[in-house]
Amino acid sequence: MISVRMRAELEGKHISGAERLVEEKNLESVIRELLKRPKVYDRMVITVESVEEIQLIPRALSIYSYDFRSVEEAREFAVEKLREVGVREELSRKAIELLSKGANPKGGNMRGAVLMDVESGGRLEPDQERGIRTVRVDWKDRNSIKLSLLKRGIKRKYLNRLMDALALATKNAHCGVLAELCWSDDEDYVTGYVASKSLGYVRIAPMKEFGNPIGGRVYFVSRNLLNKLIECLEKKAILIENL
Ligand code: COA
Ligand code: AMP
Repeated sequence: MISVRMRAELEGKHISGAERLVEEKNLESVIRELLKRPKVYDRMVITVESVEEIQLIPRALSIYSYDFRSVEEAREFAVEKLREVGVREELSRKAIELLSKGANPKGGNMRGAVLMDVESGGRLEPDQERGIRTVRVDWKDRNSIKLSLLKRGIKRKYLNRLMDALALATKNAHCGVLAELCWSDDEDYVTGYVASKSLGYVRIAPMKEFGNPIGGRVYFVSRNLLNKLIECLEKKAILIENL
């Protein structure tokens, strides 16, 4: 199979990224689809790479959605959910604080996720401006997943985003991330999530105020086997079969 990855920039700033794992016969149509993904850009890079080994995951994390009246209530709920899977309240609050301020030590967003030690709360990612990115993950049959999500009442405008984030969170849980906290850096998208193998993918709104361009991801991890975890997140090719 082939890994196809697209990233686009505007005035030197990353504005869009997407990826697919496809059979060679579908390569051209997928590239055409990815070309249309960013609305505006002045530079685009498309990487096409063959992949030797693919692992199948039969089921994505189960999806749950919760809406709250305020960011404070939504974040309290996220802390509660993380506590259910063994993340101490103090660490969840630290993670929320980090994402609210912008987890990049130079200010603003990182280019990937924070790895937070679930024991000490220390940051384990080797480069705190970059973080770690989860890549090489896709759905086996995107169209059937899209249809199922529409049938479940997910709004069309949220489809791509939900499918991408759910695939990413499912791969993370598979690789050994104990729990994840995320909200987007898109100023118009305020739904975030917490996820883990046992919690599933728990969408929570609003995790930030409209108009706020700061977001990010915190992966709660154990420092044992850290290199193996990073290798899995960055390198292992995964196709998810079903919702
Ligand atoms: N945010 C900010 N900058 C990014 C970036 C991101 N998400 N992805 C890439 N870049 C920029 C960085 O400058 C990076 O340099 P760095 O490694 O020093 O940070 C540079 O592009 C090259 O990155 P690289 O990792 O080689 O890109 P890639 O070709 O492997 O593509 C993407 C990675 C764009 C596919 C990935 O980041 C992404 O956005 N994936 C989509 C996530 C997703 O939705 N997956 C589920 C699919 S179903
Ligand atoms: P997004 O959900 O695309 O708005 O991304 C929110 C934040 O998640 C970004 O600001 C990055 O810090 C981080 N991020 C983006 N892409 C990835 C990825 N592939 N893996 C891990 N973290 C990512």
